[in-house]
Amino acid sequence: MSARKKVTIVGAGMTGGAIAQRLVEKGYCDVVLQDEPSIVETMHHGKALDLAQSAAWAGFDSAITATDGWEETAGSEVIVFTAGAPRKPGMSREELLNNNAAIVRDKVTNAVRHSPDAVLIIFANPMDAMCHVALGASKFPRERVMGQGGMLDSARYRTFVSRELGVSIRDVHGYVLGGHTDTTMVPIVSATMVGGVPLTSLLPKERVEALVERTMKGGAEVLSLLKTGSAYQAPAAATIQMVEAIVLDQHRLIPCSVYLQGEYGIKDVFCGTIVKLGTGGIQQVYEVPVSEEELSKIRAAAEANKELIGLLEPAKA
Ligand code: LAC
Repeated sequence: MSARKKVTIVGAGMTGGAIAQRLVEKGYCDVVLQDEPSIVETMHHGKALDLAQSAAWAGFDSAITATDGWEETAGSEVIVFTAGAPRKPGMSREELLNNNAAIVRDKVTNAVRHSPDAVLIIFANPMDAMCHVALGASKFPRERVMGQGGMLDSARYRTFVSRELGVSIRDVHGYVLGGHTDTTMVPIVSATMVGGVPLTSLLPKERVEALVERTMKGGAEVLSLLKTGSAYQAPAAATIQMVEAIVLDQHRLIPCSVYLQGEYGIKDVFCGTIVKLGTGGIQQVYEVPVSEEELSKIRAAAEANKELIGLLEPAKA
């Protein structure tokens, strides 16, 4: 038995595999890769064994194992749900709704039975709606169910801003709130700072608008290039930051999808904002000061998610 904390990754596709690798190499937690033999046959076992055998040279002591069931996931501190179909080129994230909802509902129900105190990070698309499914299936408080989207979208935004200005990405501070869809993301331009200088004073409006546009379609752009599936490297890096903040109780301020309870005048729906992450999940939800236009876009994102939730088919008994 290891005294290290356990993190389970549900779904061993490209993203699940990339998260597993980045996480196990960090060395602060053991990693369990859960998947079903019927979906990907034995691939999760292959990925786990291959990664375990990399330890000698990659230099980590953490354990990585794979399982078809749930017993081995018991007592997980964090569970990341990547299971579900990725979109194909030309598809929107929303088109995956009911197919992925059934998968997320089933996986969350099984997972929380063995890890009743876990923090759940939802990755499957359409992510904000899948968070709603996970909240319902787990019956967890909002502090322990969140969606990864804002970290990835913010990373894309920062990439484009840093390239445009020719400055280090480390000095670009900007966040994407709202929804994780091509039409409902809200890059918060009004609060984007580059080395302490407001972005709006460094670039003309049209250039900023072009960066915002590219950020919003950032996932589709990678998908159209990869052709065989969605992005997974930046998504994995983004997810790891969230896992790490919780496992190491870092109190980091991170954009992610959270069940809003009055913030921005929005209630009872998941939408992206900044939260403080540490032990136990969300320790605080922040309402970020944004411009009037940004506020109305955040509200529109929440409305769009409500509409999507309205299209969810009821769970089959
Ligand atoms: C993306 C998918 C993973 O944004 O949602 O690339």
